[in-house]
Amino acid sequence: ERRDAIVRRTLTWWDRARRALAWRAAPGETPDPYRVWLSEVLLQQTTASAATPYYRTFVERWPTVERLAAAPMEEVISAFAGLGYYSRARNLHACAKAVAARGGRFPSEEAELRALPGVGAYTAAAIAAIAFDRRAAPVDGNIARIVARLTALETPIASSRKAIAAAARALAPDRRAGDFAQALMDIGATLCRPLTPDCPACPLSRDCLAFRSGAPETFPRKAAAKPK
Ligand code: ADE
Repeated sequence: ERRDAIVRRTLTWWDRARRALAWRAAPGETPDPYRVWLSEVLLQQTTASAATPYYRTFVERWPTVERLAAAPMEEVISAFAGLGYYSRARNLHACAKAVAARGGRFPSEEAELRALPGVGAYTAAAIAAIAFDRRAAPVDGNIARIVARLTALETPIASSRKAIAAAARALAPDRRAGDFAQALMDIGATLCRPLTPDCPACPLSRDCLAFRSGAPETFPRKAAAKPK
């Protein structure tokens, strides 16, 4: 019941207020797993606005995973310049080759996705949910903060990773898990901000124990400062 209400309110908000980001398929369109994967890799530790020009360059230059796999490594590295981490560019290229070698089709199962170069738990869950409509629950920083606030979690995020992953997984709907996850990402980026949450505009305030506490911005709890 609580889960159903949270899912319903989140998806209703998404249908009305989602951000029109470059890598998102239009409503009703089938997402391209290559574009979903590419966007999720480019978005790691990067804001949507910083990642957007890179994403556009990549899909224009390499419109398919086979084209990216065939590109010289140095070109991929230089297209990545400014995003940091050569290892990400190397993994991106290695992953494109691995997918090209299996006929250009990304696997749809989380476990198989995880076996690809550079694809960790977050990215595998994001691709499974967004590209393949699997019931998967990616947890990025925004989603972890939302879960901590919904449940008024009294422990810091860093020491609660498993509990947060389990809570996120328990919320994920059987259908539209990708829309649900991306809605939480948008709510985290635009409303459930770290210091200045906009609870009056949030579709989840009535479900949110941090909001009910009267001091939502005090969640997630801070880890104790390290002694010097
Ligand atoms: N950050 C990481 N993945 C994202 C997505 N699919 N939409 C918005 N922000 C994101």
